[in-house]
Amino acid sequence: MHTHKVKVMTEEETRQLAAQLAALLKPGDVITLEGELGAGKTTFTKGLAIGLGVKRHVSSPTFTIIKEYKGELPLYHMDVYRLENSEEDIGFDEYFNGAGICVVEWAQFIDEFLPEERLEIEIQYAGENSRVIQFTAYGTHFEGILREL
Ligand SMILES: Nc1ncnc2c1ncn2[C@@H]1O[C@H](COP(=O)(O)OP(=O)(O)OP(=O)(O)O)[C@@H](O)[C@H]1O
Ligand SMILES: [Mg+2]
Repeated sequence: MHTHKVKVMTEEETRQLAAQLAALLKPGDVITLEGELGAGKTTFTKGLAIGLGVKRHVSSPTFTIIKEYKGELPLYHMDVYRLENSEEDIGFDEYFNGAGICVVEWAQFIDEFLPEERLEIEIQYAGENSRVIQFTAYGTHFEGILREL
């Protein structure tokens, strides 16, 4: 396990950091996002989408749970907030083992379904426009990514 902490001062810096990360990802990678309401999970996902060359506007999938976007790699954006305490498996494995990048907001609510190898990202408030973004890599692939980030 390997961790890396970055402090960003603006929303734009959050998106840029995510876009840099996107360039290092490969098909089947799973990124989990945790942090309180409005911390910046969807903002981070928008940066990943930019980095993956997604042209469509990325919005919060709260009412659909999963949205798919076409980019250089497909992006599967999940927000599992509504699955808190539900233990419902909506076919996560197909996404987690699929050909795209999976990003899961509120991933702690489906931790029993998460793959062992993943990149965990926690976003914490550090002021109105500043955030501390902490990355924890599980598995050698993501440890390598953190060294490059
Ligand atoms: N450095 C920053 N990084 C990310 N967002 C920021 C930053 N500074 C300010 N913001 C603002 O914080 C809000 C983050 O909202 P966002 O929808 O990304 O949060 P979220 O964690 O996805 O929330 P939810 O739990 O409702 O899904 C936006 O209004 C954004 O403009
Ligand atoms: Mg969100």
